Amino acid sequence: MSPWSGGHDGATGPPEPTPEALAFRESLGGVFPDHVAIIMDGNGRWAQERGWVRVRGHKEGTESVRAITTIAAELGCKSLTLYAFSRENWKRPDFEVSTLMRLLRLYLRRELRTLMENGIRLVAIGRLTDLPEYAQRALRETMEKTAGNTGMVLRLALSYGGRTEVADALRSFSEDVAAGRRRPDEVDEETLREYLYDPGTGDPDLIIRTAGEMRLSNFLLWQASYAEFYVTEDCWPDFRRPQFEEALRAFAARKRKFGALPAEAEEQADLEGLEDVLELEGSPEHSEGGA
Ligand code: FPP
Repeated sequence: MSPWSGGHDGATGPPEPTPEALAFRESLGGVFPDHVAIIMDGNGRWAQERGWVRVRGHKEGTESVRAITTIAAELGCKSLTLYAFSRENWKRPDFEVSTLMRLLRLYLRRELRTLMENGIRLVAIGRLTDLPEYAQRALRETMEKTAGNTGMVLRLALSYGGRTEVADALRSFSEDVAAGRRRPDEVDEETLREYLYDPGTGDPDLIIRTAGEMRLSNFLLWQASYAEFYVTEDCWPDFRRPQFEEALRAFAARKRKFGALPAEAEEQADLEGLEDVLELEGSPEHSEGGA
């Protein structure tokens, strides 16, 4: 058993949906994202706009983490992935980095009860060994205690970078090739996925970014291919139930095609005589005496 997994004593399941949660889902016409991923941005700006030190924004941002996690579980989300600390974030001043690490430990200690009450299983993805030992220990303990929960998966991306994840996956695969466990010609999309940090991550249906920037910032590069992207001007500490519900409403109004055509357009594509309309020179119908 890996040190990052553990026993299943006292495991819990997802919460009973409240009448309000059921009514909200009903109002979306049944379109609901199984997997939501969030780029939690704007903590620093939120604090600075109020004349406070940046880290106060991170502290308030922790309250949004708690709120959105609970609401997502209550609404029946299967998976919530939060971009909590990127590999690039190590470049921030030491005080900010150490505050974020201590907030992580505090969050994990304080929220264990909420995670258990809501049947949430905690998973961490990223270069976890970069984190200070005390943060790794707190993560390990929470992951072990929640390992058997069968409700929503809360996935924290920590010291995470999308390019690093793909590079790390390729390195592990190459090691398996060198050890004779794999053959190079086995590389395909599904095999590579098995080598990502958490193969169970799956593709997010909806990626939310707070604080207005229109960037993916190296988040879930492999998994984001067909995710719907939703950006709000609200900073992360202000992102609570109404803002989350608004994002879910926007998602429900989207038409997802995954590169194919929606049914109406497919009917139109089958119309006879389309070649004439487009005057496709050289197509069999237009070439004289063509085969
Ligand atoms: C971006 O805001 C946010 C982060 C770099 C860290 C996010 C961390 C938290 C929400 C709190 C701790 C997390 C957990 C899971 C307990 P920013 O500082 O880049 O904001 P700015 O763009 O306004 O400067």
